[in-house]
Amino acid sequence: MPDIRAAEAALAFWAEAGVDTAYADAPIDRLAEGAERLKAKVQPAPRPLKPTGGAGARAAPDHAAAVAEAKVRAAAAQDLEALAAAIAAFDGCPLKFEGAKQAVFSRGEADAPLVIIGEGPGGDEDAQGAPFVGRAGQLLDRMIAAAGLTGRVFITNTVFWRPPGNRIPTPAEQAVCQPFLERAIQLVDPKMLLLVGGASAKSVLGREEGILSMRGRWFEWTGEASGLTLPALPTLHPAFLLRQPAAKKKAWQDLLMLTERLDRPVRPE
Ligand code: URA
Repeated sequence: MPDIRAAEAALAFWAEAGVDTAYADAPIDRLAEGAERLKAKVQPAPRPLKPTGGAGARAAPDHAAAVAEAKVRAAAAQDLEALAAAIAAFDGCPLKFEGAKQAVFSRGEADAPLVIIGEGPGGDEDAQGAPFVGRAGQLLDRMIAAAGLTGRVFITNTVFWRPPGNRIPTPAEQAVCQPFLERAIQLVDPKMLLLVGGASAKSVLGREEGILSMRGRWFEWTGEASGLTLPALPTLHPAFLLRQPAAKKKAWQDLLMLTERLDRPVRPE
């Protein structure tokens, strides 16, 4: 019989320390693992590598073919609903088969003047099927509200399945999802993009600099397939702000800079 009070105390201790994300969906018995390791030393048993996940085990798809297929499927989607269905049906992103429960595409207004692009879904997003619904998302919503942007944003990510253990998505995973992201931007047709976090800014802008050097500076984003160009502003990720509250000031400056440009009257030619 497990000691519930001891377990609760341990959980409270970790929550207090800022540990709010489980490494894996199922609990890991480290004591049993140790015993297993001892046994394995005596008699090593080969463990075949196979993908896990609700959608069934399958081999990793060929990257170039997957990108080509994503482009075709994305281009065929005539509205955001069709695009969401195309993403859910797409088997070309390896993340889909690494434990993700479902595809996580977007939330917000279909005709928003601002598209916000995060890195990738976390555990809460994976469970609820919408981006930025966990603690970081709640902070993002508060920042959006404080900037007067509620009801004026469309929120999505660089990848549409949760990376295992909430790791940062790889450039290959982002590349395979990129045609869908670009099509989403094209369908929403916003005035500008807000890129939250280094993995988002680097992937969307194709740059190598760190987020601390890119944040608060305007870049020009050009859609590969559409040729659409838009101003894009990188800023700090709300998950980073939860860990480093002192950095909120910088993120706030970025948001002010963005709203000033978003609401600037367009001068007649
Ligand atoms: N972090 C992200 O980058 N995206 C989400 O959807 C949630 C957390």
